[in-house]
Amino acid sequence: MKEEIKAHNNLLELIGNTPLIKLNKITQKMKGNYFAKVEAFNPGHSTKDRIALYIIEEAERKGILKPGDTIIETTSGNTGFSIAMVSIIKGYECILAVSSKSSADKIDMLKTMGAKVYVCPAHVSADDPRSYYEVAKRLHNEIKGSVYINQYFNELNIDAHYQTTGPEIWEQTAGKITHLVACSGTGGTISGTARFLKEQNPNIKVIGIDAYGSVLQKYHQTKEFDANEIYPYRIEGLGKNLIPTATDFDIIDKFEKVTDESSAHTARELAKTEGLFVGYTSGAAMQGLKQLEEEGEFDENSNIIVIFPDHGSRYMSKIFNDEWMNQQGFFDSETAEIHKIEYVK
Ligand SMILES: Cc1ncc(COP(=O)(O)O)c(C=O)c1O
Repeated sequence: MKEEIKAHNNLLELIGNTPLIKLNKITQKMKGNYFAKVEAFNPGHSTKDRIALYIIEEAERKGILKPGDTIIETTSGNTGFSIAMVSIIKGYECILAVSSKSSADKIDMLKTMGAKVYVCPAHVSADDPRSYYEVAKRLHNEIKGSVYINQYFNELNIDAHYQTTGPEIWEQTAGKITHLVACSGTGGTISGTARFLKEQNPNIKVIGIDAYGSVLQKYHQTKEFDANEIYPYRIEGLGKNLIPTATDFDIIDKFEKVTDESSAHTARELAKTEGLFVGYTSGAAMQGLKQLEEEGEFDENSNIIVIFPDHGSRYMSKIFNDEWMNQQGFFDSETAEIHKIEYVK
């Protein structure tokens, strides 16, 4: 009998269908059953592979994208990496406008993946011509035949998760999910996933994780944009200084805010307790779970699904670097133990 070669045709076939992994040690003293949807298992190591592939293939289906065309996006790194990866495989040019808050590692990665990168100042308002939103818009107007993914204001960002992440979680939990907890940046992940899940069972509670310094929680509570909420924070990809239309605020039951410092320590704790080397926002999501549990959100029968958006390797010069942690003032005499190293001469 002739053996077939068992290979994937390209990386794109590996996007999605990420595993659900039970959290054991870090949740030991917490009520409920906790499972992480670990998006680092995507070939581009983040949840953004899903939207890159979905939105680009929608543009192809509609005849908007033709071979050799340019794809433009604003990104804190992950979406850019995923778009660059999909662009290489499908034969498109890729231009990315990124925030200066993004780590040097992330920017180097984007360049490695063939993208042209514009680094824009992080602490200017969204409508400033130097902001990464405005730079991307300008380039889109200047370059003929270009497509602007515009993940913050693109409904397809929600659809990508409605079509993939939601059904996967429903199937993996055999419909037994009681809570969905996910970070909210563009809001695409939480909105699309929740929309699908609530269609199956409207009692599922959906909780978004937001950062201090972001407007999302207050907007959800009051429907008012409060610029006084805005101040610089460290976590990349979570929270916002504007209201993205890719967030369906009505489908989210509440937001929980987390700090830069606690999220960084919790990301480190995930590695030490579960062996899960995941990114800063995964630490933030886990930190959110801890707070919610303390607030009495869960009981013994709760089946909580938390989404861990990306891989830890993207933060080696930040939260997994002791010097950076020290510079932020995130180490004190108690936590200093964690970063003890012995140099043997
Ligand atoms: C690392 C990371 N975590 C979380 C998010 C938030 O996901 P979403 O944009 O789907 O709300 C993003 C996206 O910007 C991200 O890059």
